Amino acid sequence: MSRLDLVIFGATGFTGKQAVIHMVKFAKKYDLGSWGVAGRSETKLANLMTEVSKKTGEDVSNVKIIIADVDDEKSLKDMCSQTKMVVNCCGPYRLYGEPVVKAAVENKANYVDVSGEPQFMELMQLRYDEQARAAGVFIVSACGWDSIPADMGVIFLKQNFAGTLNSVESYLKTYMPPEVEAEARERGVINYGTWESLVYGIAHHDELPALRKKLYPDPLPPLKPKLLRQKLQKKGSKWYLPFLGADESVVYRTQRYLYHKEQQRPIQFRAYFKSGGLLQTILTIFGGILLYIMTKFSFTRNILLKYPKVCSFGMITREGPTDNVMNNTHFTFELVGKGWENGADVENTKPNKTVIAKVTGTNPGYGATVVALLMSALTILKEKENLPAAGGVATPGAVFKNTNIIKKLIENNLNYEIVDGK
Ligand SMILES: NC(=O)c1ccc[n+]([C@@H]2O[C@H](COP(=O)([O-])OP(=O)(O)OC[C@H]3O[C@@H](n4cnc5c(N)ncnc54)[C@H](OP(=O)(O)O)[C@@H]3O)[C@@H](O)[C@H]2O)c1
Repeated sequence: MSRLDLVIFGATGFTGKQAVIHMVKFAKKYDLGSWGVAGRSETKLANLMTEVSKKTGEDVSNVKIIIADVDDEKSLKDMCSQTKMVVNCCGPYRLYGEPVVKAAVENKANYVDVSGEPQFMELMQLRYDEQARAAGVFIVSACGWDSIPADMGVIFLKQNFAGTLNSVESYLKTYMPPEVEAEARERGVINYGTWESLVYGIAHHDELPALRKKLYPDPLPPLKPKLLRQKLQKKGSKWYLPFLGADESVVYRTQRYLYHKEQQRPIQFRAYFKSGGLLQTILTIFGGILLYIMTKFSFTRNILLKYPKVCSFGMITREGPTDNVMNNTHFTFELVGKGWENGADVENTKPNKTVIAKVTGTNPGYGATVVALLMSALTILKEKENLPAAGGVATPGAVFKNTNIIKKLIENNLNYEIVDGK
């Protein structure tokens, strides 16, 4: 029996549903043969497909419905053995991800997800990389807003640098028009699933150093000049704080991969986000510290998980943001790359060249995310000749660096451009 091209698992979740809606359009646009949706409730999946059909105006009766539960190993095996690609939207990945990765590897299915959880991603690399290579499949996490804009942004900057790129600093800004703010306060801007992943991620953050020691026992060679993390930066009248998402972890792993596999000089990377004016910045710092402390004790962690809206000052809700809020949330990553012109003495002179790239888009959590996720899946399915020879558990940058994924992202409104220093 021939396998389905892809299956969206966790299709009934907030992100999963957006992925299914987009997939209806992409299956036509990119001529995808057959695909399916999977989850643990048949009724929910059937209702989802009725809703998707209404919303898109398309006949979706040919989309296969598969019942699969993370707690039922056989159901995961059945799902993975009937598809070439699992698109996993079922998170938090720390709680639900590993059985799906394991089943994908064992049943020779490729796998992509939108995890932004470094511990999960690095643990999967440690545990399944060899097996995935032996099976000849790609297991690629962080294919959403974490961390396609940043990871592929660094690759894009390098491809357009014409010289030696030493470091990239990323500055994230988000924007929403004032007339949507009241609705955003009412319904939030992020769905509960991301909050749950974040809370568990911070709670277990201290596991990372030991994990990294196992994953990368040898340090990278010292790079000059060293890119230090600034605690607080001012650009114009606004302040920027370190962005503690998954981007630094993912870009680091990509650069490690390119250093080990292709002997490329690693690029140093730091990420920041715009926190606003001084008062907002001080409040953000206090909020961050309070969140960190609260994740550390089960009693306060449960408060965070039980009362997401109150604890996130209205940003997180269980019903998720409205379409209007999502479609009016815009983002820009400004990636400032520094290095040397071609022919410069890299060892003995200071960097003499700056190139700036911008990655821009709309609806970071659920629009740009699912576009990036589905373009990642399609790239693995359709561009075998441009992927690394072996499979494995790797980052988007490592797997997609020689593909046309950026072209496909741009076609779908996740834009990459060089804005300065061409
Ligand atoms: N990187 C990014 O930019 C980005 C953006 C958005 C989301 N995310 C991540 O995506 C993940 C999902 O977020 P979300 O907001 O979509 O969460 P959600 O709405 O809670 O969806 C979770 C999904 O997992 C399913 N699920 C839970 N337990 C299961 C089990 N035992 N077996 C099978 N399915 C199970 C749920 O099925 P039921 O419907 O049956 O309960 C649901 O479909 C989170 O980890 C989030 O952080 C990342």
